[in-house]
Amino acid sequence: MTPNERISAFEAAGQGQVFKFFSTLSPDEQAHLLGQAEEIDLEEIARLKRDLIDGGAEGGLDLAALSPAPYEPLPDQGGDATAWATALQTGETALRAGRVAAFTVAGGQGTRLGYNGPKGTFPVTPVRKKTLFQVFAEKIAAAGQRYGCEIPWLIMTSHQNHEATEAFFAENENFGLADGQVRFFRQGRMPAVDGDGKIMLEAKGSIAMSPDGHGGSLRALDRSGALDFLAERGVDTISYFQVDNPLVRCIDPAFLGWHLERRSQMSSKMVPKAYAGEKVGHFCVQDGRSVVVEYSDLPAEVQEQTDPTTGELLYKAGSIAIHVLDREFVRGLARGGGGAALPFHLANKKIPTIDEAGEAVDPTSPNGIKFEMFVFDALPFAENPVVIETKRANDFSPVKNAEGVDSPATSRDDQLRQFARWANAAGADLATDESGLPEIVFEVAPSFGYDEASFADAWAAADPKPVISAGTVLE
Ligand code: UD1
Repeated sequence: MTPNERISAFEAAGQGQVFKFFSTLSPDEQAHLLGQAEEIDLEEIARLKRDLIDGGAEGGLDLAALSPAPYEPLPDQGGDATAWATALQTGETALRAGRVAAFTVAGGQGTRLGYNGPKGTFPVTPVRKKTLFQVFAEKIAAAGQRYGCEIPWLIMTSHQNHEATEAFFAENENFGLADGQVRFFRQGRMPAVDGDGKIMLEAKGSIAMSPDGHGGSLRALDRSGALDFLAERGVDTISYFQVDNPLVRCIDPAFLGWHLERRSQMSSKMVPKAYAGEKVGHFCVQDGRSVVVEYSDLPAEVQEQTDPTTGELLYKAGSIAIHVLDREFVRGLARGGGGAALPFHLANKKIPTIDEAGEAVDPTSPNGIKFEMFVFDALPFAENPVVIETKRANDFSPVKNAEGVDSPATSRDDQLRQFARWANAAGADLATDESGLPEIVFEVAPSFGYDEASFADAWAAADPKPVISAGTVLE
């Protein structure tokens, strides 16, 4: 499209306001605005206005059609130990065959943490203060070594943090990972609109654009060529996790094995919720399909319902945003095959913008709408989805807030508890309080152990046995 054709298309779609100040802009500013406009799918915006803004399609959740989703409990919680052992073997075989990639969504803005920089560059470990990205890189490298393969690592960034993320990896020489092993790509963006569905400007020459949510990762995986890159390497299984969680087992053979054994297209991990109102998504079944219902959408009285026999929460399966995805399932959804596509959610936000005269407006209450997709909305489209249980202590302690719950302090303590648990299980004799928190601060590098099994093997092989004291780093 020529610039004039682009402007006409916006006018025809009732979005001519985007180019209101065009003739007053410098050539660079004009090019910038046209570049942003090119990213926008005008039909999609019209559809979203019709269905979500005018139609209120997000309306209510049909509670009558909702029930808690089944899941595979851990062996020590009554699960089938033989099936878990088979899953472990299947996952390990797939890893040895090079069929698995790791995938981190790192496009979020980290507003709640109040940290100025890509969240993956936030320091988290107790002694060395390694960053989230370094922890994941070392876990992926260690798993690759254990299974004799090079595990590709895909990292989804946003327009805002892409350059800074790439520069951080370059400065740190990819934390020892091979050059072609790590692949970065940007997620898509969506324009903010006002209550009439009109695309908003943040400045005369710039549209108010924001990331399209972690659900945008499916489109971005396809559009960036990452799926073809995986296919060329014989990888068909994608291990998906968020950037905020240093405890995550980036590569978990038993989880991968459950996914493959069941011929699942999308699998998930659950933890029993810590308390009824915990702010996580809930695994549910709706009209025979698996869904995740966000805490904000599930009424408090439903969150609090208990099973009359066991007294346990009925909706207890909390989502910790860890999934395994089948490569071709992702491609199908990204391309909207058979009409399948992730829905958009809308959020009312304060959007810095300009007025009719082009003067800056800094709103004090929500004045616009942002659109986002969520990756868990892919679940209802998946064949044979499987949800497995995991222990929170082994997989989940995110850094989300500057203080209080899910903060750097709670996550550091959970890492320490995990290191102490591994060490004591292997035969060390570390003193801890009743919550399992060791009295000393030390650290286990993923190169020594990145889960209980790898730690136990390294400990058994060590001669003499390591001595752990304050400040020790096992590596
Ligand atoms: C999310 C889940 C919630 C889950 C919880 C577990 C949603 C809506 N909710 O909550 O069900 O229980 O995690 O920790 O997701 N991201 C992008 N691009 C975006 C937006 C986010 O890459 O456009 C990434 C972030 O970098 C981060 C992850 O997605 O890695 C989570 O985003 P965040 O907005 O922090 O989710 P939560 O509200 O904490």
